[in-house]
Amino acid sequence: MKPFFCILSAFFLLLGLSVCSAQAAESGDAGQPSSAPKAKILVAYFSATGTTRTLAEYAADFLDAELCEIVPETPYTPADLEYYTGCRADQEQADPAARPAILGDMDHLAQYDVILLGYPIWHGQAPRMISTFLERYDFSGKRIVPFCTSHSSGIGSSDTDLHALAPDAVWHSGTRFAGDTSREEIEAWAANLELTPSAVFDLERRTVLLNSGYEMPVNGLGTYSLHGDVCIDAVKSALASGVRLIDTASAYGNEEEIGQAIREAISEGTVRREDVFVTTKIYPGDEMEAPEQSIQSCLDRLGLEYVDLLLLHHPDRNDVRAYLAAEQFVRDGKIRSLGLSNWYVEELETFLPQVTVTPALVQNEIHPYYQENDEIPYIQSLGIVVQGWYPLGGRGHTEELLNDPVILEIAAAHDVSSAQVILRWNLQKSVAVIPGSSNPEHIRENTELYHFSLTEEEMSRINALDRGEKHDWY
Ligand SMILES: Cc1cc2nc3c(=O)[nH]c(=O)nc-3n(C[C@H](O)[C@H](O)[C@H](O)COP(=O)(O)O)c2cc1C
Repeated sequence: MKPFFCILSAFFLLLGLSVCSAQAAESGDAGQPSSAPKAKILVAYFSATGTTRTLAEYAADFLDAELCEIVPETPYTPADLEYYTGCRADQEQADPAARPAILGDMDHLAQYDVILLGYPIWHGQAPRMISTFLERYDFSGKRIVPFCTSHSSGIGSSDTDLHALAPDAVWHSGTRFAGDTSREEIEAWAANLELTPSAVFDLERRTVLLNSGYEMPVNGLGTYSLHGDVCIDAVKSALASGVRLIDTASAYGNEEEIGQAIREAISEGTVRREDVFVTTKIYPGDEMEAPEQSIQSCLDRLGLEYVDLLLLHHPDRNDVRAYLAAEQFVRDGKIRSLGLSNWYVEELETFLPQVTVTPALVQNEIHPYYQENDEIPYIQSLGIVVQGWYPLGGRGHTEELLNDPVILEIAAAHDVSSAQVILRWNLQKSVAVIPGSSNPEHIRENTELYHFSLTEEEMSRINALDRGEKHDWY
């Protein structure tokens, strides 16, 4: 058997990485969509007698993925595999703590977004070597897609037992194949896997590439509750401070002011239209009942030629219809990307199969007291960017959050404000932020998030503040 890590694949990997960096640099033209990110896929497998290997090869061929064999340090002889005789394999399977050693090193795993993990079923479970493999490497944030072969058993408890060995991975449900599964059957299975990678935040450029191919700034200004001249001044002050994302909604009643502020900033030479990312939303009820008119009204009130991102503000009985109408605006070039606000796992599971364009973004309430730790990895695993509203706790709660002793201590350690710590914590979780403020000093401070970073320990301390405490009704 050949060891799985070869110099050639490492070389191609490096080559692939440099190509990726070049693409990211090109995507700097905010006016043009880049191609949506593609997942880097590895097919890793263990196979004692070659059955799983054949299917792994079919999958890797089809997905254009790297193939890598998990090789035991001590090879299994035919006698080791004589099951129900008390052979070596029987003994290992009878001992949950057994961890047969793996040959070589697989540090290049870090480069992959998705790992298809193949193995034979041994006594209804994955061979213990798969446990060795999962415990040895860091699978945080990676998607793992298990598949197995067996004589006749199903995938059994291996489909869920393995999760505890890589708890920070996003696990797909596994699939069992018979030994004589054809190439076509594997291709059909592989074609239906949702393998879009999680969008990667580029904190140097302060942007993230959406699945629509457009770049979005990872921090912006929320404008809920801003009206009239206060709103116009806040938006212009934000643009002057370098904020490049303005979030509004039909329901905020301030789209006209937002449009006016941006047009003024353009004519004053502060920004170009293509530098500013504008999000708006249509509301349930009347607006979603007549989505064509309500979306056109948003465009008219903003008066900025196009909208960068249109969100459905909340789930509604007409939400699918409204979204499909919005898809037509994307095809017509009047809206660039689509997304959802206040959508959670259950709603997404029902909604997504009914629409054509995968949302680029989901915007939900997220702050240290309401962290959505179950929701965020799920949404991100679909290649959808998560953005948090109320990042500073929301009306009536901001003071308590900003004075939380843990936050204050971390802020003091970095010589920044509590707000900056909370916003930075979001960014390090790949959650985009849109704090609202009309105070130019606060607006500026909320953009200064890139000269410091939180340690893992500080991130964990903030993670521990979660109370599941929602501060608004949505
Ligand atoms: C130790 C051992 C235990 C096995 N236990 C099962 C089992 O519980 N159910 C089953 O259907 N097949 C079982 N098999 C058969 C293998 O799962 C099957 O032949 C598999 O396709 C072999 O894959 P491979 O050639 O990639 O090693 C077992 C095989 C061995 C060696």
